[in-house]
Amino acid sequence: MGKYIIRGGRRISGTITVDGAKNAVLPILAAIPLCDGKFVVRNCPDISDTHITIEILKSLCYEINFDKKTLTAVRTKDSTGCVPDTLVDKMRSSIIFMGSLLASGGFVEIGYPGGCELGKRPIDIHLAAFRKMGAKITEREKTVICEAKKLKGCDITLDFPSVGATENIMLAAVRAEGTTTIKNAAREPEIRDLAEFLNKMGANVSGAGESEIKICGVKKLCGAEHTVLSDRIVAGTFLAAAAMTGGEITLQNVIPSDLNPICASLAQSGCIIKGDANSVTLHAPERLSAIDIITEPHPGFPTDMQAQMCAMLSVADGFSVIDERIFSARNKHIPELIKMGADIKMWGNGTVSTIRGVDSLHGAEVSARDLRGGAALIMAAIAAKGESIVKNSEYVERGYSKIEEMFRSLGADIDYQQ
Ligand code: EPZ
Repeated sequence: MGKYIIRGGRRISGTITVDGAKNAVLPILAAIPLCDGKFVVRNCPDISDTHITIEILKSLCYEINFDKKTLTAVRTKDSTGCVPDTLVDKMRSSIIFMGSLLASGGFVEIGYPGGCELGKRPIDIHLAAFRKMGAKITEREKTVICEAKKLKGCDITLDFPSVGATENIMLAAVRAEGTTTIKNAAREPEIRDLAEFLNKMGANVSGAGESEIKICGVKKLCGAEHTVLSDRIVAGTFLAAAAMTGGEITLQNVIPSDLNPICASLAQSGCIIKGDANSVTLHAPERLSAIDIITEPHPGFPTDMQAQMCAMLSVADGFSVIDERIFSARNKHIPELIKMGADIKMWGNGTVSTIRGVDSLHGAEVSARDLRGGAALIMAAIAAKGESIVKNSEYVERGYSKIEEMFRSLGADIDYQQ
């Protein structure tokens, strides 16, 4: 369990290049078992979730080479369709392999992902869709088994625009008999990137990024090359860190339109933001203004930026309200921020929090309890007066590659200790 030692009171300013998106690379790598052939995936972030996904592909008999953010994959022999429980336990989003394994081998057995730090994480929407496509689902205590000789295309309306369920259905449908239409589909940019990769493999996916996605099943798919889109949440994290410390930052290799919901809130809080084709620059105001945040499916404000905004607004001028509407327990960063002097109260079942901005935070020893909450605590420690220790770095390492080096290059006084 590593930790970050941070001496705060520093401005975050300068220029960084943002890596590929964790939440795009996972479903893209999960598409590889759909067919034989050679795959080259560029701009893969060097984070622990990528490495766990590589372990899953190796357990499915792939030879993987991962060097300088470029991953190549070739299948060595037929796989069993079983994803090791140990790997599912490490990364619940391994369930994203269900669609492609069901489509390619007609069988998948995977550890039933339990809840996580963010609350209950059911997969009922995924399973209902697979059943509708003709799969037989057996839910055991610890694993779920899906079997289907041949999946059939059909119309599927999601009860909730679940990102993972939308992706799993796309992965299952590309080789199904007939056409599948997903209604009330998730519209996150990572869905668009997955569709682009699948179409490079010879699939026929249209409408990705909108609420209705059409997938016409094809008989043959092939290996493909792809460059993963930029991580909008990593980008947003660094923008919010600069905003919180009165800095000025330029992010390169971003897709400004994917950052619109985040930049709209940062601008509302007083930041000046300018963008061109693939970069964004933020100038922080003297003092941020309090704003309200409601997390919603894209193009609403992303839940993955909620903790970072909570940290940022803890030093804004005024009274902010955050309403987390996606996850039932995405609030474990709040008690830790309070240890640093933040004035935050949680209401009801803990999904609504009110923040009274303070002039400054002070250093403290705090613990990350989840990926984005950990990033929020690092931001707060950099802004705070005095020294902080942020423990449980492995949560942060799931989604940020060498975050301490990135922040150090922007002026932070931060060390990482195993
Ligand atoms: C993806 O998770 C992301 N993970 C999450 O990012 C992100 O927070 C989330 O989408 C929402 O944007 C990856 O892409 C790997 P959902 P996912 O299915 O697919 C409920 C991060 O920090 N639900 O859209 O699991 C669910 O409980 C991570 O990078 C069901 O009820 O999210 C939740 O309340 C965290 N039944 C809501 O929908 C289902 O079958 C949104 O979940 C599926 C989901």
